[in-house]
Amino acid sequence: MAAHDFDLVIRGGTLASAAEVFEADLGIREGRIAALGRGLGRGAEEIDARGLIVTPGGLDSHCHLEEMGQDGSAQEESFDSGSAAALAGGTTSFLCFLPQWKGHSLAASAPGYEARARASRADYSFHQIVTDPTPEVMAREVPALVARGIRSLKVFLTYDPLRLTDAQYLEVLATAKRLGAFVTVHCENFDAIGWRIQALLKAGLTDPLQHAWSRPPVVEREATHRAIALAELVDQPIQVFHVSCEAAAAEIARARARGVKVWGETCPQYLTLSHEDLVGPDFAGAKAVCSPALREAAERERVWARIQDGTLDVVSSDHCGFSFATQKRVAGSSAYGTGEAASRPDGTPAFNAIPNGVPGIETRLPVLFSEGVSKGRIDLPAFVRLSSANAARLFGLEGRKGSLMPGADADLALWDPDAERTIRNAELHHAIDYTPWEGMAVKGWPVVTIRRGEVAVREGEVLARPGSGRFLARGPYAAAAPRGVVPDGFDAALA
Ligand code: URP
Ligand code: ZN
Ligand code: ZN
Repeated sequence: MAAHDFDLVIRGGTLASAAEVFEADLGIREGRIAALGRGLGRGAEEIDARGLIVTPGGLDSHCHLEEMGQDGSAQEESFDSGSAAALAGGTTSFLCFLPQWKGHSLAASAPGYEARARASRADYSFHQIVTDPTPEVMAREVPALVARGIRSLKVFLTYDPLRLTDAQYLEVLATAKRLGAFVTVHCENFDAIGWRIQALLKAGLTDPLQHAWSRPPVVEREATHRAIALAELVDQPIQVFHVSCEAAAAEIARARARGVKVWGETCPQYLTLSHEDLVGPDFAGAKAVCSPALREAAERERVWARIQDGTLDVVSSDHCGFSFATQKRVAGSSAYGTGEAASRPDGTPAFNAIPNGVPGIETRLPVLFSEGVSKGRIDLPAFVRLSSANAARLFGLEGRKGSLMPGADADLALWDPDAERTIRNAELHHAIDYTPWEGMAVKGWPVVTIRRGEVAVREGEVLARPGSGRFLARGPYAAAAPRGVVPDGFDAALA
């Protein structure tokens, strides 16, 4: 008879699932959750979780790690450092992006990227960015990708080197529908942004704040409306990435009320930061440049309201590894910028040439917990849905990730709900030289992170080794299935 019943028992914690909160022990065997209940038998190892809240480990379904540009560069955040940061912040798995370079096949873009990802300490999968949907890519490469378990595509409606025309977007939607893949969309109107940028530059307005002026909410609302309308035409499920404002969220809510399979994601930056963060001495506003842009301060509560009514049901980080010293201050150092790489007399880039994106893979969950749960805007099950369970459902990982049910991977975060911390970049594990949340006081912190039954982080020390993360192949799943409604009963995608 075995000397113990479980490999690991988390004893006496308050368990929070996507549906409920209850007191129980949690037993783990062979990396999976094996039992929940009071008074479970002995574990080879035990963790005393009295006073702690036990949630599923986070699934960050939108982050950019080590992304490779066509010029041979790679984003500064490596899989090693980024995944260490993820685990330290309670996130046990993530989805990042396989790039496609325009004019290149998928195979010829970012060679070796998947091999780099094997350095991850957290479990991972990919969305495939499609920037050049040629017949060959759509007919051969995307089906091969889906067969390998990479079942989600990302498209951009803006950024010069990345954006698709409406005709190309329709091709991607139709291909995804035929293959049972999911589509995620960056929704901003490229021409409208370019028009505003030219006028701002002509007027001599070049500061980081003008990044926001160049792409106000109406630009996001228009593209969100269009992205949903075209997805509805094809009958292809989509998720609208990084929703920053009520106007875009309202488009999603209206479409959902019609039964369209569209979901909305937002990020901590849109819940906590604002125009004020785009202003500061020594070009500090560049640290908060991301797209869609940060909004006026009052917009944040409207985004929270759309979380509370369920319109926005995933909070991802959209983590981007651009250090302030090496990239944010260097004009045109990323494809995630818009227009000519113009510099100003002091050498800093004009707003339109600042690389877009903020680092947040480690702070995502502490900020959401503190601003959401500790401040009473959301309850614990909502926190679980927003941080892991809904993403698992949308991206084909339901039952494996984001769950406390027996059989699920034993990915857990143990939260001290009373821990009061001040976010300091010096204490974070990412490779980036700043955090936009520097100095923010938070209440609630993940003190232990468990990945597939192993203690991956304890009190800030990352124990999981580089390369111990696993690739997550994803099979067919319900959220990606069309609903069977096309105009006039004629399915153009299948004709
Ligand atoms: O500013 C952002 N969001 N940068 C990352 C690229 C993207 O648009 O997701
Ligand atoms: Zn985007
Ligand atoms: Zn992104």
